[in-house]
Amino acid sequence: MKNILGVFNGKFQDLDKIKVSPLSRAYTFSDSVYEVIPFYNNKIIAFEKHINRLSNSCDALNIKSNISLCSDEILHLISTSKLKNGYVYYQISRGVDALRSHIYDTSLEVETFGYIVDYQFESKDLKVSLCEDIRWQRCDIKSTSLLGNVMSMNQSKNNHCDEVIMHKDGELTEGGASNVFFVIEGNIYTPSLSSNILPGITRELLISESNKNGIYIEEGKYSVNDLLQAESIWLTSSTKCLGQVIEIIGYETKIELNNEVFQKCNKIFKNAFLSGQLNNNII
Ligand code: PDD
Repeated sequence: MKNILGVFNGKFQDLDKIKVSPLSRAYTFSDSVYEVIPFYNNKIIAFEKHINRLSNSCDALNIKSNISLCSDEILHLISTSKLKNGYVYYQISRGVDALRSHIYDTSLEVETFGYIVDYQFESKDLKVSLCEDIRWQRCDIKSTSLLGNVMSMNQSKNNHCDEVIMHKDGELTEGGASNVFFVIEGNIYTPSLSSNILPGITRELLISESNKNGIYIEEGKYSVNDLLQAESIWLTSSTKCLGQVIEIIGYETKIELNNEVFQKCNKIFKNAFLSGQLNNNII
């Protein structure tokens, strides 16, 4: 495999040369937060929003980070990599314990880690399954504690699916690594941020870009039954962009593959993405 540029505690080096301590709290407790920051045509998509969310995740877990230093490292990864399209994975952990302990030492120094990869952004059709959302109640925090997502997504993959759509007692939440949108009688719906979901940046960008184009997206509480009435369903994320759901395994659906509303939203998002309108930072 080609060398991947990484950074660990401020030191830029090849990813395979980075060594971490087994007493890192990221390792023992997944006591860390992260971001996936896309860039396209040398421009970062919604950089400020990603940095703000990283900062909010740290604050929510009382992780004392130097966000402007992290932001500089992300920018440095992108500018030195010479890649045109791709994403940066960036993680901040609470630090390394002297010995594993649930109770953290408030004087620990945070541990930062990131890397950059080439990535082709394209909207793919997705086959999904449905499952009960078994995660904790702070899914608004972009924490690396993702075992609920990991187990559900792998179960879904074993059923030959690309993603999973989760629900808590029948109320829709989000995808395993994405937010969910659906269309009934031409109206677009997405679970509100109070549904214990990640405040997805692609979700936010799509809502605001659609609004600018006169398309209103309703945010609220919706059920699996609502989803099964939908003529179009799609998932959003920084790497998926808008991915159309073509099948929910085990369910009869009303999904139309050439749905006009999806095509309109996808076009609006694609145009904004490709033309650089979603970028607020030029490398
Ligand atoms: N995940 N919900 C969950 C649970 C996610 O993991 C993600 C993204 C999203 C979409 O967020 P955004 O639009 O800001 O990417 C929603 C990233 C891509 C990941 O973990 O790889």
